[in-house]
Parts: sequence; C-alpha cells; structure tokens
Amino acid sequence: MNTQQTFDAGRSFDAAQYQQNASFVPALGDVILGWLAPQPGEHILDLGAGDGVLTEKLVAAGARVVAGDASPSMVTAAKARGLDARLIDGEALDFDEAFDAVFSSAALHWMPDAARVSAGVFRALRPGGRFVAEAGGFGCVAAVRVALADAMERAGVDANGAHPWYFPTAEHHRSVLERAGFVVDEIVVVARPTVVPAGFGAWLETFGKAQLARVPAEQRAQVLQWATARLEATLRDEQGRDVADYTRLRFRARRPALA
Ligand code: BEZ
Repeated sequence: MNTQQTFDAGRSFDAAQYQQNASFVPALGDVILGWLAPQPGEHILDLGAGDGVLTEKLVAAGARVVAGDASPSMVTAAKARGLDARLIDGEALDFDEAFDAVFSSAALHWMPDAARVSAGVFRALRPGGRFVAEAGGFGCVAAVRVALADAMERAGVDANGAHPWYFPTAEHHRSVLERAGFVVDEIVVVARPTVVPAGFGAWLETFGKAQLARVPAEQRAQVLQWATARLEATLRDEQGRDVADYTRLRFRARRPALA
C-alpha cells in the first residue's frame, strides 16, 4: 500500500482547508514544544508536521528539522515555508539512528497502529534520543463523536467503528512505548476544552471525512446539520463559541543510551 492509499479514509488533508478551519491546532502546540525544549544543532524529526507552522519554531530554536507528513498538500505547504518537508508515513518509518529527537503534535491520533509508530520512532532515534509528543487521548472529542454517530444513525447509516482515531489512555500508551523499548519519563491524559473558531460544522467537514464518507452524498448536508445543531446546543459557551471536548495525551520518552 502506498502512502496516499494508507492515508485516505479521512486522513489526508488539504492545506488550504486546514489553514481556514484548523489553524487553531498548531497554535496550541506550545505546551508540548516546552516539553521538547529543542536545542541548537539538534537533528529533529517533526512527525505529522502538517503545513510546518510548529516546525518553524523548532528551526527558530536552532534545530535541524525534517518535517514529515503523509498529506502531499501539507508537504507542499511546508516546503513553501522553506522547510525540509517530506512525504512520510508514520506507520512505516524508514530511518536508522538518524535523529536526536522525534517530536509530534496533534498527529499521532491519525496513526492507529501505535506499535508500528513507536517501533519506527525507536529505530529512528539515536541511543539517548527522545520522543516527545502530544495527541488526542482517551475520551477526546467524545461528545462530537456521539453527535455525529447519532446523526448518521438517524439517516440510517451504521456508525459503528467509523471514527479513524487512536485515543489511548496514558496506561495503555505507556505499555505500547515500553514494549517498543522506550523508557517513559512522563505520560498523562488531560482535558483541554478547545475553542474551534470556525465552528462545529467546519470542524466536522475538516476532520469527520472518514465518517461522512459512509453517508450517501445526498444525505451529507442533512447529517452535518443534525450533528452541528446537537453540538451547538450542548457545547456552545456563553460567548457563542463552539468548544470541543478535546483531551491531550502528552508524553516524553527516551531510547536508552548505550551502557
Ligand atoms: C485532536 O487534535 O485531538 C483531534 C483532531 C482532529 C480530530 C480528532 C482529534
């Protein structure tokens, strides 16, 4: 299977749509950047770098960075920023002891084969190298998933197993990392309610493609409207902002140094 086939089913992004509807995602990456604390001269893989907004911060810190993403459109957008951007499938990494650190923000939940991802990252790191990441954790966007599933079922579409995301507990993901050989220094799942500035409808159109692909084209607008109305009734705050029920898995782990 090639990269594009692997990342179809809602996992391939259009950079223009992403910038319009989801620019809040990289804007919220500063916490995990702080956990990484990139150092001048370090060689870093940014896994799932998107259009490179956060990658530029790693470069500004003096690191040499490869921006890897599985969406051709995102890679093109990252190259336009002057970054070393490459089409990379996180579930089939092909590096050997090449990096001092692997960093990932808001991308690992799109890579459900976490064992393969972790093994590939482990191989990609030099001994002593670190893996620092943030992604959706257990319970992430649960209300959004339920609202969309309800709307799909109201339209007569089976929603079982439709969402494409990996949202583990900290305990589960710790065991995945340890099985790959990592020492886990810190791992948590925290709630982070997240304002989606373009609203729930735009969020669903941008991120819900895998689920909406199951809905016959002529019913999609209706399903989107039902789901959006349910979400607005539930998760619209006093200021009229749509606030999605995000959780964040955050961890820092390292490949043990040679004895
Ligand atoms: C997240 O960043 O947690 C996320 C983004 C899109 C869909 C689901 C989760």
